[in-house]
Amino acid sequence: MTRNNQTSQSSYLHMDMLRFTTAGSVDDGKSTLIGRLLYDSKSIFEDQMEAIEKTSLNGGEAEVNLALLTDGLKAEREQKITIDVAYRYFATPKRKFIIADTPGHIQYTSNMVTGASTAELAVILVDAQKGLLTQSKRHAYISSLLQIPNLVVAINKMDLVDYDQAVYQNIVEAFQDFSRELDVKSITYIPISALKGDNVVETGDNTPWYDGPTLLHHLETVKVENALNKVDFRLPVQYVIRPHQNFRGFAGRIASGRIRPGDKVMALPSRITSKIKEIVTNDGNLTEAGPGDSVAITLDDEIDVSRGDMLVHADNIPTIQSKFEAFLCWMNAEPLEVSKPYLLMHTTRVTQVFIDEVTYSLDVDTLEKKSSSNLKHNEIGKVKITTSQPLYFDPYKTNQKTGSFIIIDPATNVTVGGGMIQSVDANDKSIVENHFRQASPNTTWEPWNIARARREELNGHKAVVLWFTGISGAGKTTIAKALETKLFKIGRQTMLLDGDQVRHGLCGDLGFSPGERTENIRRVGEVARLFFEQGNIVLCTFVSPYRKDRETVKNLFPTGRFIEIQVDCDLETARQRDPKGLYAKAENGEIKDLTGFNMEHEVSENPDLNFNTGEMDVDTIVEDIYRYLEKLS
Ligand code: ADX
Repeated sequence: MTRNNQTSQSSYLHMDMLRFTTAGSVDDGKSTLIGRLLYDSKSIFEDQMEAIEKTSLNGGEAEVNLALLTDGLKAEREQKITIDVAYRYFATPKRKFIIADTPGHIQYTSNMVTGASTAELAVILVDAQKGLLTQSKRHAYISSLLQIPNLVVAINKMDLVDYDQAVYQNIVEAFQDFSRELDVKSITYIPISALKGDNVVETGDNTPWYDGPTLLHHLETVKVENALNKVDFRLPVQYVIRPHQNFRGFAGRIASGRIRPGDKVMALPSRITSKIKEIVTNDGNLTEAGPGDSVAITLDDEIDVSRGDMLVHADNIPTIQSKFEAFLCWMNAEPLEVSKPYLLMHTTRVTQVFIDEVTYSLDVDTLEKKSSSNLKHNEIGKVKITTSQPLYFDPYKTNQKTGSFIIIDPATNVTVGGGMIQSVDANDKSIVENHFRQASPNTTWEPWNIARARREELNGHKAVVLWFTGISGAGKTTIAKALETKLFKIGRQTMLLDGDQVRHGLCGDLGFSPGERTENIRRVGEVARLFFEQGNIVLCTFVSPYRKDRETVKNLFPTGRFIEIQVDCDLETARQRDPKGLYAKAENGEIKDLTGFNMEHEVSENPDLNFNTGEMDVDTIVEDIYRYLEKLS
């Protein structure tokens, strides 16, 4: 008996190939299934087979324990702690296969995300006795997120339910119901017994009611569309090779796209362009190179490119951004913390990153979006992200290599999350400046002790900034005080920052020149941000006459959390009120730059709320703002 595959080396290299991944827990029989596939398709090497037969029989097992085949892999894996996925190669006369074999426990998510993204097919194992469990739904959902085009739902252990068609049918229907929302091209259902072999490689006699393909037949014949992006040339530079003065090669593996000598390319981030001179490899120069090729590129011009930079086609460049939205699978026992600095690895770059906000987390059973402030172990959600340096990326849908990333905990160096970039967060220009703005020399950003999200959870309300702007005497302070009292009475965490108070002490060194007002508002914005990040509803009452200054402060906060409230009244009303006697002074010429009187207040173009205190009473205004706040939380 020869278990060695007979396919010759040369034809093997040119055979059609399918990469697939298997998803299921140990109990679902994943190891046995892979073993069965290898054993029945005679893909196991003879020495391996003998060893397994011996071990199984020594162990007193009546049947050869196929799980041992893959358990061998497990031991291998345990030694390679950095690699979560083991690849298994086998071939039949029709096709060769690469299985991204992922350990079958709850680590699954991480392996799936980090290892399976190149798979063209995913086999989801469902235990016929247990029915469709959350775990399988999660696997299917992740497969769909990863854009794996083909799913096989292998309903296993049919022998333990007497090959009952009704059991199979129920699971098929449950899965069909669930999968309507998934973005998967094809789903194939196969009733199998990995242990007994039914419908894995051979059909067997136990499921006469099933007339579909066996698993192997399906794997051999399913149409494989190459998911590689051959259009958008991206070469993340891994090394700069400079063996001598006359040679300078930028080496790396082409993430996507094709190139030829003579192509015009651009280096990022410098945006300097040049032409490709040569495509150098270990086996000589190429006239063309494509996705997956490891190459060193030389250029016509001497331009500065270093590790972590990217070479792209000059007329087809990726998005260059430090803010974007992504789907994130969280893989760590410690939940994700918003506003904690993590590291993000994307192509050949590692940069500091903040997850600013969890937009929602997903209930994988129902595919419903739940509002959530963090992601727990194995949860999937949509998040807003800010990186300290811009990334050069494409959305995952168009480019799996430049659209995916992993998150690393800097304290432990452990991979804690894997993500797929969805889009640029175009509306949210805020938080770049937020985490990464001007700082004193030799200082490092000190992360928040208790994440805002946690405080918000405890407080039972969101943190926001209510920014009241308007001329002196318009009623900003009166409204803010009444509102704060109301909020205080129902246990909201509040903080009131008022111009006249802040200008005693903190900003006491500032007068009212345009530059000093700008500095005043800048400082106040920063203080507001500190209180905001500690979970408060921060009420700020400042004349803040310049639109640009208010805009700058707004940009310190996530979208929707800075609420600009324009408080108006006509000048005559303000003059009559004149609570601090300033208008009288201005009329006497004692004040030359009183806002609204002899200096303009730039009204907001798009305030979130706008009130005229000459026309509305304080209670009504307070009630309006209160209702607006209620809608936010
Ligand atoms: S801002 O223009 O820099 O935003 P801020 O709100 O801090 O002003 O302070 C305004 C307060 O300072 C007013 O409530 C008023 O009591 C006092 N004040 C004194 N001089 C002026 C002035 N020239 N213009 C406006 N407010 C003034």
